[in-house]
Amino acid sequence: MTLWSGRFDTAPDPAAFDFQVSFGFDRALFADDVTGSLAWAEALGAAGVLSKQDAAAIRKGLEEILEEGRRDPAYVTGPDEDVHSFVERKLVEKIGEAGRRLHTGRSRNEQVSLDLRLYLRRRIPLLQQALTQVITACADQAERAGGALMPSYTHLRRAQPVLVAHFFLAHASALRRDVDRLEAARAEADAMPLGSGAIAGTSYPIDTAALASTLGFSRVVRNSIDASSDRDFVAAFLFAVSLAMVHLSRVAEDLIVFTGDEHGFFELSDATATGSSMMPQKKNPDALELARGKSGRAIGRLAGWLTTMKGLPSGYNKDLQEDKEAVFDADHTLAISLRATHAVIARLALNAGNASRAASGLLLATDVADYLAIRGMPFRQAHEIVGAMVRRLVAEGRDFSSLTLKEWKEASDFFGDDAPQAATPLESVHAKRTPQSTNPDAVHAALKELKDWLNPKA
Ligand code: ARG
Repeated sequence: MTLWSGRFDTAPDPAAFDFQVSFGFDRALFADDVTGSLAWAEALGAAGVLSKQDAAAIRKGLEEILEEGRRDPAYVTGPDEDVHSFVERKLVEKIGEAGRRLHTGRSRNEQVSLDLRLYLRRRIPLLQQALTQVITACADQAERAGGALMPSYTHLRRAQPVLVAHFFLAHASALRRDVDRLEAARAEADAMPLGSGAIAGTSYPIDTAALASTLGFSRVVRNSIDASSDRDFVAAFLFAVSLAMVHLSRVAEDLIVFTGDEHGFFELSDATATGSSMMPQKKNPDALELARGKSGRAIGRLAGWLTTMKGLPSGYNKDLQEDKEAVFDADHTLAISLRATHAVIARLALNAGNASRAASGLLLATDVADYLAIRGMPFRQAHEIVGAMVRRLVAEGRDFSSLTLKEWKEASDFFGDDAPQAATPLESVHAKRTPQSTNPDAVHAALKELKDWLNPKA
């Protein structure tokens, strides 16, 4: 029995009917659906559409249904077309006639939009919390690394020495933007659609502002036609999730490379690594690889959803039902990826010796050129001179640390006696002068700022 069978004289063909049933997945909206119906019943009561007795019976029935569904998830099952039909069937079973009045003036089109908005408003804070845990793990690693050095890379070639802490704070910066981006998606979902009816609005005098505030929304949608198919909040959420997954993927890629034998800057904990069934020596970063791999899935959900929306005529269309699996899958994918990434980062051990060894050598060339430029040589000329020095050093298999004072001065008379001391990784980081740089004081301040953000003083 569907909510609409009255109009039809043949039983549905399962090939077509089962295809459009959504209860298998929209049962995730169960609690939100009941929450929405409780508020709707109250609004109908306040508008005088429902008698006091009916409104009270509906409230009691819905509260019991919510309670049972919360106690036993297996309760939320049945032959129903969708979660809305399920709740209504249960209500009618419980309270009879009054239950049939609940849907007065309301359409499933607005109901499903409301449910999904409520779902996102409660799920997004959990994702933000999980992001914050990963950011905390980055901050802890930055703190523990102290003054340890490592190379930074451009084009995956060693570029300049940086503090290990600076590297972790870099990833933390990206993940902080994800927290904000999810907040923006949550704000987008924060508009109450009830009162829109199926498309043209409702014929009952519903106080939509009161209904919005009962449901914790800060505003009401502006236009009923738009509201029936507006899923911008879904697109915003899927984009925020995709970009967070892209960031996790890039964290993963860095750590996969840096924990490998060739770099060995960090050691994966045995607890977050996996072995090989054939090669006994292997210690594989499967968790990181999967976080990287699953970014494709999140991006796919976003691309798929935008493709579904494109070209839809205005008003509700069943295509919109595709929003739910996209949202649930993206939500789940990000949640489990954050959990795994957190475990890997929290248990990662720094191999300071390997990291700092890799931070010395020819990657000090920029600092040597800066030395000349600070002493008045045009930077282009300095670049050329140091380039020639590098060419020679590479050919001889040496680096700056092996140059004698005589050799320094032969390269340019701008080099003073302090030139050898200036060309060290430690000097290199201390020479940086801007707040966003790897200068140890700047990194210290950045870490403090991050910790204040993580633990705001009341
Ligand atoms: N399951 C539907 C969806 O997810 C609910 C809305 C149904 N509305 C309708 N007119 N068939 O979009």
